[in-house]
Amino acid sequence: MRVIINSQEQSNELVAMEYVKLLKDKPASVLGLATGSTPLGLYSKLIEHYKNGAVSFKDVKTFNLDEYIGLSSEHEQSYRYFMNKNLFEHIDIDLKNTNVPSGLGADEKACEDYERSLIEAGEMDIQLLGLGTNGHIGFNEPLTPFDSVTRIVKLADATREANKRFFSSIDEVPTHAITMGISSIMRARKIILMVFGAAKAEVVKQVVMGKPTIAVPGSLLQLHNNLDIYLDFEAASRLG
Ligand code: GLP
Repeated sequence: MRVIINSQEQSNELVAMEYVKLLKDKPASVLGLATGSTPLGLYSKLIEHYKNGAVSFKDVKTFNLDEYIGLSSEHEQSYRYFMNKNLFEHIDIDLKNTNVPSGLGADEKACEDYERSLIEAGEMDIQLLGLGTNGHIGFNEPLTPFDSVTRIVKLADATREANKRFFSSIDEVPTHAITMGISSIMRARKIILMVFGAAKAEVVKQVVMGKPTIAVPGSLLQLHNNLDIYLDFEAASRLG
């Protein structure tokens, strides 16, 4: 595990350069992507690098971590909508190569199909992750088993509370989501976890310095052999 502490701006640039390098070496990479406010700066940098001609996504395949149950791809808070608006529409990726679990009609079979397409795509080159204030990764809430795969989950109250800022009221926040599991995430060749802001300093301490435990899903990432954690100074402030 490497912990890299910088400003948000520098973190975004350093991570963007990882992608530029990867895609130069392997244009047909498989990328695991994340939503939330954390990766927005990175996605802007990737768009900039694409526009400058430094990188192409023409042959890239992507898999997103999760989606809210009940939201269509046109819903402004759906993760499919987020990805289209904040990344895919601005780069040369073929939308057919982008995978976001569907929030409509998600059932056991849809989960199995998503997991199977992940496996069939081959090893993910980089899995990008953010971190929930309760330590969740994707929508794998505390106490998610280590061997979990793509499935439908009930969102923790803390998660609905944290994400209600994007909806008009808490009642609008979906109660369930479809998410890749911990074991789906851990199969990636490399994992990049990005965490920004003082509100996550305490959970960052548990993720980086605590014993790996399913009580803090992010801490399980310590068991991966190729993990880079990018923190801003605020998120790193409790590391001592
Ligand atoms: C959401 C997503 C996670 C994300 C997390 C943090 O619930 N499911 O993938 O990492 O919350 O979001 P943010 O980056 O907005 O703090």
